[in-house]
Amino acid sequence: MDVTFQSGEPLTHAVDALVVPVTRTGDGPEVGGLAAEAAAKLGGELKTLIADARFTAKIGSTLRVPTLGNLPARHLILTGIGYPARLDADRVRRAWAAAALAARQSGAKTVASALPPAAGALDGPASLLAAAEGIRLATYRFTKYYGAARKDDPVPAAVDRWTFVSDGVEANVAAAALDQAAAIAAGVSLARDLVNEPASVINPVSMADIAREVAKDAGLEITVLGPEELGKLGAGAMLAVGKGSATPPQLIHLTYRPSGANTGKDDRVIGLIGKAITFDTGGYSIKTHEGMLEMKVDMSGGAAVLGAMAALAAVGCPYVVHGVICAAENMISDKAFRPGDILTASNGVTIEVHSTDAEGRLVLADGLVYTARQGATELIDLATLTGAAVVALGNGTTALFASDDDLAAALLDAASEAGESTWRMPLTKGMEEQIRGHIGDLKNTGGRPGGAITAALFLQHFREGLPWAHLDIAGTASASKARGYIPKGATGTGVRTLLTYLSGS
Ligand code: BES
Ligand code: MN
Ligand code: ZN
Repeated sequence: MDVTFQSGEPLTHAVDALVVPVTRTGDGPEVGGLAAEAAAKLGGELKTLIADARFTAKIGSTLRVPTLGNLPARHLILTGIGYPARLDADRVRRAWAAAALAARQSGAKTVASALPPAAGALDGPASLLAAAEGIRLATYRFTKYYGAARKDDPVPAAVDRWTFVSDGVEANVAAAALDQAAAIAAGVSLARDLVNEPASVINPVSMADIAREVAKDAGLEITVLGPEELGKLGAGAMLAVGKGSATPPQLIHLTYRPSGANTGKDDRVIGLIGKAITFDTGGYSIKTHEGMLEMKVDMSGGAAVLGAMAALAAVGCPYVVHGVICAAENMISDKAFRPGDILTASNGVTIEVHSTDAEGRLVLADGLVYTARQGATELIDLATLTGAAVVALGNGTTALFASDDDLAAALLDAASEAGESTWRMPLTKGMEEQIRGHIGDLKNTGGRPGGAITAALFLQHFREGLPWAHLDIAGTASASKARGYIPKGATGTGVRTLLTYLSGS
């Protein structure tokens, strides 16, 4: 989809669909502003139509009206933006997401769209950025495996050209906002594609190959460490997890260095670490059929790191960022690790394997130590780490753990701006004894009580004294049904929280 900006009047555009926002007042939609102008052109019938169709103007509600030649556009799509005082970036994203889905559903190939009225902190460029993000994120689809049997069940064709039309934004500022939205959405789409691909396609080695391509396109440095290099580092925890697979584990290390306008603003060095278990059978502590079914999603943390790394330049990130993807496949074979094995991680900490299914914390252990040794001043990991996080917070909210209150607050702010619901959980000190080892330092499981917390407490032993945050995305990495700009399947969660946290503004 080609998304552009034009100064001027939306109502004059001869397109398949014209998108106009409608605000809500105490008792329902308020047909003012552009919607009122459109209503006048339609012979004043719009108010009746709105009442008849029970259009609420709530965020996410839309109403499509044929213009029957009374406007240059063939259809008018009203999109609800709720109460003006509550309008923020995420509400704009959701409102334009709904409009884009309605436009696609109607078969529109060309769309012209107004922007929301300026409200509070949300100026013209900010709402343009949010609206463009909303339409791009919402219209994402993963259709590459649709075959002949889909012929009777065609998916609606994509919109070709989407033009935002407004007098409230300067053309060059608008173009920059649209470029940024495209880069952010591309990062999210990359993460979604990687997660939606089956594990027969995405394995540690193919993931490294894809990372090399991304690095080339995005101007990132890349180093990939295979079993031999990992052995030299003493990364015994990550190596153990990958041992049972025909595809060897890969530690994929990308580096972003700010250049041009982004340089020299800060000496912080950020380390991002992603769990990328390309398939999690559970190993010899094997999962049930139901538990294993979705386990291609277990590389979502790594996918989010790659997606964010690809867009750092576009959001003006002023920091050096190391993106480390811990890729391994947790399989069963005569080479696989076993319950009862003792592993030594690269910082010398020894680990008793109580469950081969608690493998994420093992690859992250070595990933955290590795990243700390690259000179990072703070560490943020993302991982589909525990079923317990899903039990605690459900499928709509990511669990955040952090060693440092400032880091936690900044990440919660970024998550809220990105519209990625996130809730801070405690690192309860007294629960350390649940992961204390018997013949080694640590056990890799802490029992059922507080399973997300004991997993985070385990990771703390590998942060090498650095401020650290951990996002457990087990519940949010994939969605069982579409909601707003989140499609069914892979969500790409984490990418936009990271990009918001790391952006220059
Ligand atoms: N990959 C799973 C966690 C998971 C569960 C991700 C559901 C996405 C959806 C992880 O490796 C795992 O198996 N965790 C175990 C840990 C336990 C053995 C301590 C769990 O949560 O049951
Ligand atoms: Mn597991
Ligand atoms: Zn796992």
